[in-house]
Amino acid sequence: MTIDPWKVEEIKNYEKLLNEFGLEDFGKIVRKISNPHLLMQRGVVFGHVDFVKIASAIKSKKPFAMLTGLMPSGKFHLGHKMVADQIIYYQSLGAKVFLCVADVEAYNMRLASMDKLRKIAIEEYLTNYIALGLKKKNCDFYFQSSRSKDADKANAYYKLVGMAAKKTTMNQLKAIYGDMSPGKLMSVMHQVSDILHPELKEFGGKKPVVVPVGVDQAPHLRLTRDIAAAFNRSKEYDFILPSSTYHKFMKGLKGHKMSSSDPYSYVALTDTEKLAKEKILKHAFSGGRETLKEHRKKGGVPEVDVAYNMLYFMFESDDKKIKKVYDDYKSGKLLTGELKQILLEKLVKFLVTHKEKREKAKDKVHDFLE
Ligand code: TRP
Repeated sequence: MTIDPWKVEEIKNYEKLLNEFGLEDFGKIVRKISNPHLLMQRGVVFGHVDFVKIASAIKSKKPFAMLTGLMPSGKFHLGHKMVADQIIYYQSLGAKVFLCVADVEAYNMRLASMDKLRKIAIEEYLTNYIALGLKKKNCDFYFQSSRSKDADKANAYYKLVGMAAKKTTMNQLKAIYGDMSPGKLMSVMHQVSDILHPELKEFGGKKPVVVPVGVDQAPHLRLTRDIAAAFNRSKEYDFILPSSTYHKFMKGLKGHKMSSSDPYSYVALTDTEKLAKEKILKHAFSGGRETLKEHRKKGGVPEVDVAYNMLYFMFESDDKKIKKVYDDYKSGKLLTGELKQILLEKLVKFLVTHKEKREKAKDKVHDFLE
């Protein structure tokens, strides 16, 4: 199995991915965290590299950082919320949070102007992050194309972008990414600097850094660790190799991928109550049977049911309650329509309060920008 980060396919077998990408099973380390996030408990965050460093920093209350990047595109939906929830979780644990808008990457790899990308990053992503609970304290939100107004900081970041290339070869890049292009090369070197620069003295100095990402980003993280190790060997820098965690992708409503070009494949955080209901009732893929009689007899298939999955991964944190939903659906006692109502009650409540929070968040956006 190969993964091309610029062409994400639907991933069916996450177990297999652990082996092939040399990722460790997050389920084995989750016990070492005193207060794991629901996404960690429920196995959405399923893999990691070197998370022990982070677990012990959390435990001993030592400084650590979290960095992740976002590719501004379209509407902010529940899949994006999954990442936001992790960011906010780390911030609440005391991590210094670095949020990178990958505008250089998006500009090179997708069709969008820099201005448009900036606007989407602020109006969709940042505003929703704040509404979901992101705080200004201990948060450094930046764009790849304009790291900082502080010249020392900016220089340190771009110096690393420029130097990273020397620590790899075209053959290594091709082995990891397949065909290379100038745009990919620029994207990769920026991403290496994104991941490593929180450890530079201009950004607070050496510390463990965790990078929570979708599993499509595993190749970038592997390369970055190699490059960091090469810098350490040459004594030009002294990095703690970055840790990372990998989450599964949230399935789209129709059971396939979410796609920003198809609004009926996701629930956006700006969807109205009416639209969200329509999406769930008419479009969410059901694990129920064709007829009522058959459903009662054979039971539903919660594993493939989109409504069940949303409850499990996001909206029902009570283990007993989710187990009951699972058992009742599987036995045929609970019908598809009823299951969808259980989800909708939670989802609609969330969307309505989120809308108010987002209005308030708009006033705070400027505090996060330089
Ligand atoms: N390549 C990432 C994506 O496609 C975006 C990104 C840029 C990133 N820099 C990063 C992710 C640093 C994690 C860490 O979404």
